[in-house]
Amino acid sequence: MEKIKNRETFSSGLAVFFATLGSAVGLGNIWKFPYLTGQNGGGAFLLVYFLCILFVGLPIMLSEFYIGRKTRKNAVGALEQLKPKTAWKSIGIMGVAAAYIIMFFYSCVAGWVYYYLFKAVKGDFVGVTMEAAKAQFGAVIMGPVSPIIWQVVVLVVVSTILAMGVKQGIEKITKTLMPLLFVLIIICDIRALTLPGAAEGMNFLFHVDFGQLSATAVLAALGLAFFKLSLGMGTMMTYGSYFTEDNNMFSTAVKVALSDTLVSMLAGIAIFPTVFSFGMEPGAGPGLLFMTIPLVFSQIPFGSVLLVAFFFLTAIAATTAMLSLVEVPVAYLSEERGISRKNATVLSAVLIAIVGVLATLSVDKASLLGHITFFGMGFFDLFDYISSNILLPIGGLLIALMMGYSIKHEEVVAELSNHGKLKMAKLVNVYFILIRYVTPLLLIVVFLNSIGILKF
Ligand code: PFF
Repeated sequence: MEKIKNRETFSSGLAVFFATLGSAVGLGNIWKFPYLTGQNGGGAFLLVYFLCILFVGLPIMLSEFYIGRKTRKNAVGALEQLKPKTAWKSIGIMGVAAAYIIMFFYSCVAGWVYYYLFKAVKGDFVGVTMEAAKAQFGAVIMGPVSPIIWQVVVLVVVSTILAMGVKQGIEKITKTLMPLLFVLIIICDIRALTLPGAAEGMNFLFHVDFGQLSATAVLAALGLAFFKLSLGMGTMMTYGSYFTEDNNMFSTAVKVALSDTLVSMLAGIAIFPTVFSFGMEPGAGPGLLFMTIPLVFSQIPFGSVLLVAFFFLTAIAATTAMLSLVEVPVAYLSEERGISRKNATVLSAVLIAIVGVLATLSVDKASLLGHITFFGMGFFDLFDYISSNILLPIGGLLIALMMGYSIKHEEVVAELSNHGKLKMAKLVNVYFILIRYVTPLLLIVVFLNSIGILKF
């Protein structure tokens, strides 16, 4: 990192790309995308998800980059600087809340990944059958002690990295390990595609049947688009604040969204053929990844080594995503509230550990706290639902309204074109049409539809 204007920035355009991708790629691609696609009927859900990325995700990502780089501040400070003494600051405050709520369940799932890595190293999955894979996952989530221990391990790792502020290290990790993760998922794909019955899985993933699509599925696709690209809660503002002055933010947004979607697709191609080949249930829920991947690797040469590599790289991807999540409250607390970076990190980790345990103990109906429900959801599902399906889309809607109606067009043109160095006039016009009309309208329609006010 170099010091520019007393604030750290990423060292180059490539570092900007990989750091941002490091936030986007995580459990969302490998764990959440496949299981939501499975639960919501496959191809039609996928199509809606693509549309959400294009018409909602991309314009909002660009808006967040703009806000962050223009102000070079944390999410709350950035909005306060852009629109002093207005209620727009609440977008940042909601973002801080969303970061914690996501971490409550994300750290739990990351704990399972770390635990699976440990089990894979021990050789627990050698020659595993479908029944055994299911039983192992059941034992892992039921715990109750071990998943909590692994969740705490995750939080210790994340807070140590954050407190040391080793962003340069993070840059290096993401630059080398992301491409490796990519290669490994492709190996999974090749294996999955050569399983008997693989075609049925591909058909499930790519055949569009709108009969399968419900209002809840559309809301889930929208929520997933936000969650996937780390949008609606200030993460991309905070990262934007570390961008270099000469970064072409349009091209960064497009490249990040494309690469991230590619990783999700490759994960889906690894998982669904396996699901169908082994006669499993595509709608199996959060355990889908953990039950299929050990099977993918169970009968191939070097399978156990590849399985270790897979969970290792997934753990890294989850960790870099969490670093960007916790960075939102840490940057806010240290820059706006005068708390030292170290204390802000420790404070956040302790809060996440305490509340996160509720998620860990309520994953399944049979879990220790599984009987406590709100609107039919346990803590784990509730945290997920509130953040992805409510807070992030509302944050996104407010960002779109602010950018579309309350920021001067010329200022956006100037910032996005790097003060005239890039020819951007036409693209900025398209951006404004999307952010003023298309993005907010879509968000409002999906909301009204999901609460039943608008039926289609
Ligand atoms: N995008 C991450 C993933 O898909 O795993 C999750 C995430 C990271 C969401 C950072 C939100 C965020 F601010």
